[in-house]
Amino acid sequence: MSKKSKTHCIGILTSGGDCPGLNAAIRAIAKAAINDYGIKVLGVQDGFRGLVENRVIPLDNENTSGILTRGGTILGTSRDKPHKMLIGGKMMDMTGAAVENLKKHQVDCLVCLGGGGTQKNAMRLMKEGINVLTLPKTIDNDIVETEATFGFDTALGIATEAIDRLHTTATSHHRVIVCEIMGHGTGWLTLGAGISGGADVILVPEIPYNLHSIADFLSARRRTGKRFSIIALAEGARSVEEAKKALLEEEEKISKKEAKEGKEAKEAKKEEKKKHKDKEKKNEKNGDGKNKTKEESEAWYDETRENMPVVVKKIESEVVAYHVVQEPTASRVARHIQELAGVEARVTSLGHVQRGGIPSAFDRLLCSLLGAKAAELLADGVYNVMVGYQTGKCVPVPLEKVAGFRKLVTLDHPWVKTARLVDTCFGD
Ligand code: F6P
Repeated sequence: MSKKSKTHCIGILTSGGDCPGLNAAIRAIAKAAINDYGIKVLGVQDGFRGLVENRVIPLDNENTSGILTRGGTILGTSRDKPHKMLIGGKMMDMTGAAVENLKKHQVDCLVCLGGGGTQKNAMRLMKEGINVLTLPKTIDNDIVETEATFGFDTALGIATEAIDRLHTTATSHHRVIVCEIMGHGTGWLTLGAGISGGADVILVPEIPYNLHSIADFLSARRRTGKRFSIIALAEGARSVEEAKKALLEEEEKISKKEAKEGKEAKEAKKEEKKKHKDKEKKNEKNGDGKNKTKEESEAWYDETRENMPVVVKKIESEVVAYHVVQEPTASRVARHIQELAGVEARVTSLGHVQRGGIPSAFDRLLCSLLGAKAAELLADGVYNVMVGYQTGKCVPVPLEKVAGFRKLVTLDHPWVKTARLVDTCFGD
């Protein structure tokens, strides 16, 4: 017989980049929720897009069985956000539709499995009155209030194995190989794999590099008879010049914003209050404050779309410009090192291989622990938290303490200290 539960129905969605372990987490939540607490479990397909489009399927013992070791996500995922969703070529706020669909299915709590973006999107829904609960998923390991995010350990293993393999070929050819590793704006994955794989140089976004320092280090290595080198480079790594430029741009943006805010503060506050009141009134309605039939609602969306500014085109042209103009960091570093240190250099970009395949044993364990704890919290009616992993335990953390924050590699982190102690060059 199932134990008493304060929650009767949950929806689960996976959002953002996929990673191994998502299915293990879905399985753990569903099995514990259904079998231990008698909670009805629904799966939302393709993240927040599926929620807006009302693509919801029942999850049961049968379809959540045999998925513990399967990579990816059986629910599908997307990078869509409810408040900024591309609909028919136009960017639209679809929060209302997301809220409406959850109410339609009588979902007491939406369980969101995702990284930093997902935590923020979940909090936005929370502010619209939806109960949410999140799990920390990302190969980037950049979520605060948790010592581990699922997906990271598997990606760490893959990147480390890649460095091992690059070692043998780099040694044979007496080359420098730059191995580009994912991680978005943080260096956890590169740092972890760099230490585990014995990379000679580790370049992470948090420690801006100087090409001359790297070249000097590599030349000194050659003089000691080591004719090959491995550089583990995070996709977000930046040179000192790039970091300075980014800092100046950021400062300029902030001071412009502050100046503008000073001038417009009063009007903005007034406007904000008005908007908030309007939003409250519009709750459960289709955007202009009036209840609508399905046909009216569709007509309203079409009309709204027509009048939306064309944000998409701008984004598309920027993306094209990025690909055409910008040389990837890894290839730029390899090119300069070849010139400065006079050694042959090659580039390997690991890309999405790092997110593929079966989850590691640790990720399966972590997902099972987090998922089962999530079900327990749901049964107790604990909402609006992320289940974090702290000192070996799964604990609820208020979502406000997580969403909008990013865990960066600190200069005094034990991993950085250790790497320096074993003669790793950070290019600084
Ligand atoms: O956040 C996970 C991640 O793999 C990052 O490391 C990387 O920058 C990004 O996703 C890649 O995103 P996409 O799969 O959308 O290209």
